[in-house]
Amino acid sequence: MMDFEALAQPGIRGLRAYDPGHDLVALRRAAAAPLLELGSNENPYGPSPRARLAAIDALAAAHVYPDPLGGDLKRALARHHGVEAAQVLLGNGSHEVLMQLAQVFAGAGDEVVAAQYGFAVYALAAQAAGATLRLAPALPRDHAMPRGHDLDALRAAITPRTRLVYLANPNNPTGTWYSGAAFEAFLAAVPADVLVVVDEAYAEYVDAPDWASAVPLLARHPNLVVTRTFSKAFALAGLRVGYALAHPGLLAVMERVRESFNVNTPALAAAEAALDDTGHLQASVAANRAQREALAAALRARGVAVAPSQTNFLLAEFGEATARIEAGLRARGVILRPMGGYGLGDCLRITVGTADDNARLLAALDEVMA
Ligand SMILES: Cc1ncc(COP(=O)(O)O)c(C=O)c1O
Repeated sequence: MMDFEALAQPGIRGLRAYDPGHDLVALRRAAAAPLLELGSNENPYGPSPRARLAAIDALAAAHVYPDPLGGDLKRALARHHGVEAAQVLLGNGSHEVLMQLAQVFAGAGDEVVAAQYGFAVYALAAQAAGATLRLAPALPRDHAMPRGHDLDALRAAITPRTRLVYLANPNNPTGTWYSGAAFEAFLAAVPADVLVVVDEAYAEYVDAPDWASAVPLLARHPNLVVTRTFSKAFALAGLRVGYALAHPGLLAVMERVRESFNVNTPALAAAEAALDDTGHLQASVAANRAQREALAAALRARGVAVAPSQTNFLLAEFGEATARIEAGLRARGVILRPMGGYGLGDCLRITVGTADDNARLLAALDEVMA
């Protein structure tokens, strides 16, 4: 037997692959009725009809390679964010960009700092790059932002070996956020040669007055990188488009390892059309907000602790009954995301569905909890 583990690079040995949750295709096949899939923070309202049409039209050119520069989408994003097109790097989802950041800027002997209960990809990116991951403890469970990022702890975890810090605002899986003012103070205290990556995958959903995007800080902080995605509020998860905004020089270095055609033609076209359809985005975000607040209230009324969320999901605490409740819901065709991989075995992450989805979830939950 070949020992492939021994052949792998040191950072890859012993690494656990990203856990995408349940095998939904297998569950769908086995289910008697359509499942209610609330495990992956997808957008139940679907993409802009204009984005769908753009993707379909783009298929006519499926025999030629996509634009390797993604020029049209980059220019549209640059206009949207008030930056230069050279400050935009496109990725096959923001997952790719997050992995590439560690690949390019961290290696053996370097440290990467991330938060306890931060998005799982940061740890994966650091370890795959061969760097050492330092996890800063999260805020306590009884904090106003339960298990959210503790910016002081993140700052304290930075050492002379630190190359990269990953934060998410708002964070997955906690749904929590930190204020713009707190982040500015944090950034001012980080050494200038440490790259700070702020993952704003859920930014379009946010309406908390104290939240602020890190994008305007790019002009003053060349060590800042902001990542965004079309997978969440723009509802294009299946097409895989994400991007980073950063200093042109930083992105020019990252370009060296980018697969030339990493974003395909329908995805480029759909993302550009989706960005332009602000009415659709706003309707989707407003519907999510109303349902998120209603679902959080309904769960709390049932005695379930729910963290405040500025996203399209809720982190809900079910305590010792968590595994039983998750399995009971699954038996009723309702799929939530178990959180054991995050060290949150007493919680389930629930994507906020439509009003009908949430009614079905609550009815199933009442049966299981009875
Ligand atoms: C915080 C966060 N960042 C990044 C991603 C990756 O998204 P994508 O690769 O679809 O852009 C996700 C997906 O769930 C996420 O929750």
